[in-house]
Amino acid sequence: MDARVTGEKVVRNFDQYVDERLDEGVFRVHLDTFRDPELFDLEMEYIWEKTWIFLGHDAQIAEPNDFITTQIGRQPVILQRGDDGEVRAFLNHCTHRGPRLCKTQRGNAVRHTCPYHGWMFDSQGNCMMIADEEAGGYSQAFKAMSHDLHRVARLECYRGFYWASLTDEVPSLRDYLGDVTIFIDAWIDQSPNELEWVKGDANFTYDGNWKMVFENCLDLYHAKSLHASFGNAVMNRFKNMGEDERKSINLDDFVNATAEVSYYNFDHGHGALWIQNQSQQEDRPSYAMFKEMEERVGAKRAELMLSGKVAAIFPSILFVESATFQMRMIRPISVDKTEVYAFCLAPKGEPAEARALRIRQYEDFFSASGLATPDDTAVYRSAQEGDQARVLEWNQGYHRGIEQMQQGPDEKATEMGFNPTLSIHGSIAIQSEAMYVGPYREWLKKMKAGQDSALAKL
Ligand code: FES
Ligand SMILES: [Fe+2]
Repeated sequence: MDARVTGEKVVRNFDQYVDERLDEGVFRVHLDTFRDPELFDLEMEYIWEKTWIFLGHDAQIAEPNDFITTQIGRQPVILQRGDDGEVRAFLNHCTHRGPRLCKTQRGNAVRHTCPYHGWMFDSQGNCMMIADEEAGGYSQAFKAMSHDLHRVARLECYRGFYWASLTDEVPSLRDYLGDVTIFIDAWIDQSPNELEWVKGDANFTYDGNWKMVFENCLDLYHAKSLHASFGNAVMNRFKNMGEDERKSINLDDFVNATAEVSYYNFDHGHGALWIQNQSQQEDRPSYAMFKEMEERVGAKRAELMLSGKVAAIFPSILFVESATFQMRMIRPISVDKTEVYAFCLAPKGEPAEARALRIRQYEDFFSASGLATPDDTAVYRSAQEGDQARVLEWNQGYHRGIEQMQQGPDEKATEMGFNPTLSIHGSIAIQSEAMYVGPYREWLKKMKAGQDSALAKL
């Protein structure tokens, strides 16, 4: 790829990585975006460390002093509810010489004591104590410094969901999310009391690029082939158990094409899909509360709430409701290694039987040891290996459904009152792969803007 050196920076022509010629029916993404370690570092710098990244949900830090740890790009972060009830986000980095202060994924801590020399910080991030300070012969300049944990530049909450940014140069969280909130709301509003965290989570790593899991959650095309073992297991259960026991969501809708689907792109790289007229809605855990939902929010919104749907919020968080509901936080580690933190949120106050069904369906399909997730992680690894075919520059995987693409909202979106930038609507047999246009437009925009601002600082 074209590159030239300016000062100390290699300047890249990022336009060469995304080949968007929709009027000619072409959309392609260069394979180097999946396999070039330098490009990965630039993605961390220009995308992940310069936009809103999802950190966690209010329910995960419900009590004073509760914390969770995560990352913004490569940078370790603590999200903590202080002893005063306020939620803050700090870098997980001892001000003295740098060790991470919280090693566990979650916990409750009135204070954080650094294991190295014993400096102590409270749950609001203030430095409470510098060990043996009096005898330390510290200068006035040192004493004038703040020793508190470094707060991230921006932390905002959308209805219990916290996002943070390392830079101030981002739009408000509400503007960044835009109309994709119609999907987020469709999960939150399933109960008048909003959502709670279903305790327990499953984290897994895979040997592939972070964009693979982002793409995969919008990919209905792979369900029939890659998850055939899940489909077969479910069908065998039906045979052995009879109609009344149909409690797993099967893959009929992906095979028989009885359902319809709308795919959407939104500003800032977000994508969504919505499966309509789906069978087996009565086997979804949310069905137990459907009547109440319908009365409270109206038939149209209740239909969206019960449907299979996905919202992929660029670049860090995936809300996926297929066999059941799962949230996946993406944590890129290197160009060919990614960690996924997966967990389940559920409507507060759902009947015990529905909650049990939710957990069983979750284990069945999504859990790291479930019948579907290992299929996906194995194929990401295989694709990462296949993409080492460096004489090749492009895959062909973004063309399916491109002819059905329309600018702006489809009929369903108009009916619901939201305004996507692109829509694709049709039989579920489309299983479109063309809705990656939006995420890669944002990828390109952020990479160019990041480089421009880095060069301006030289
Ligand atoms: S590095 Fe944390 S107290 Fe010294
Ligand atoms: Fe999958």
